[in-house]
Amino acid sequence: MQVISRVAELTELLDTFRRSGRRIGVVPTMGALHEGHLSLVDRAAELTDLVVATIFVNPTQFAPTEDLATYPRTFAEDCTMLEKRRVDIVFCPQDTEIYPPGFSTFVEPPEVARSWEGRSRPTHFRGVATVVLKLLNMTRADVGVFGQKDFQQATVIRRMMFDLNHPCEIVVAPIVREADGLAMSSRNRYLSPEERIKAAGIRRSLLKARRAITTTASITGTEVTKIIRDELLISQIGEIDYAVAVDPDTLEPQTKIQLPVVLLVAARVGSTRLIDNEWIKADA
Ligand code: PAJ
Repeated sequence: MQVISRVAELTELLDTFRRSGRRIGVVPTMGALHEGHLSLVDRAAELTDLVVATIFVNPTQFAPTEDLATYPRTFAEDCTMLEKRRVDIVFCPQDTEIYPPGFSTFVEPPEVARSWEGRSRPTHFRGVATVVLKLLNMTRADVGVFGQKDFQQATVIRRMMFDLNHPCEIVVAPIVREADGLAMSSRNRYLSPEERIKAAGIRRSLLKARRAITTTASITGTEVTKIIRDELLISQIGEIDYAVAVDPDTLEPQTKIQLPVVLLVAARVGSTRLIDNEWIKADA
């Protein structure tokens, strides 16, 4: 496993590799890795011949009020974890390597970036779209692997790639969870033991709503939202940002539930904001 921090070095190495006709996979991350990230690396290794994992805490996707300064940075542990999987290159650039002096070009994200996360984090997806496009351009990867955990992020990226005719294939991999169902997240480490127990209620609320949808002939979006909210309140999760049933492509709320549908939740547990989702496909 090679650790590279310079764009020029990365590009040169990958150019040589690409000329031999082999396929490149990239897994963008912000580090503080867990099994969720590693599952993306495994997927990339199944699909391609060379896997690049990127570790870059992207400043442009954090609002001034957010946790950029305190975002967990665990580079040595991350490398140890990646070393045990089939990763060929770890790309870990400095901020100035990605945003050199004078940098001023940003991606205007697609319409699907406006709702949900976009509403409480208005500049977030502009930063995500910009850095993801840059990483895909630098690596000229054949496949980029992203997690369903950030459902809206994956939707924004897929739409951006389509709208800009970008040739890289985007693969979305399933959510990896803790034993009690809590979706793995780098931010889970902020939770106190008490909050950690409450947080498991998010998964329960989504499963309850899934059951209602798959067993009820006709159910409305409002009824689904109520099921999720009631269950969150039972778990003493009061600060709910949104709990909604949406169309998987447009992310528009469904008034009458029709499969496929995605249930999206964002809620605060203590001071930690957590997101999760449940994707109910057409054949559920
Ligand atoms: P980060 O939060 O580090 O996540 C990196 C990738 O891991 C994302 O595609 C995310 O959806 C995926 N992921 C996180 N938790 C997961 C879980 N429990 N199961 C499966 N996949 C999971 O998302 C970002 O970084 C950034 O926005 C980035 C795309 C790197 C751009 O800066």
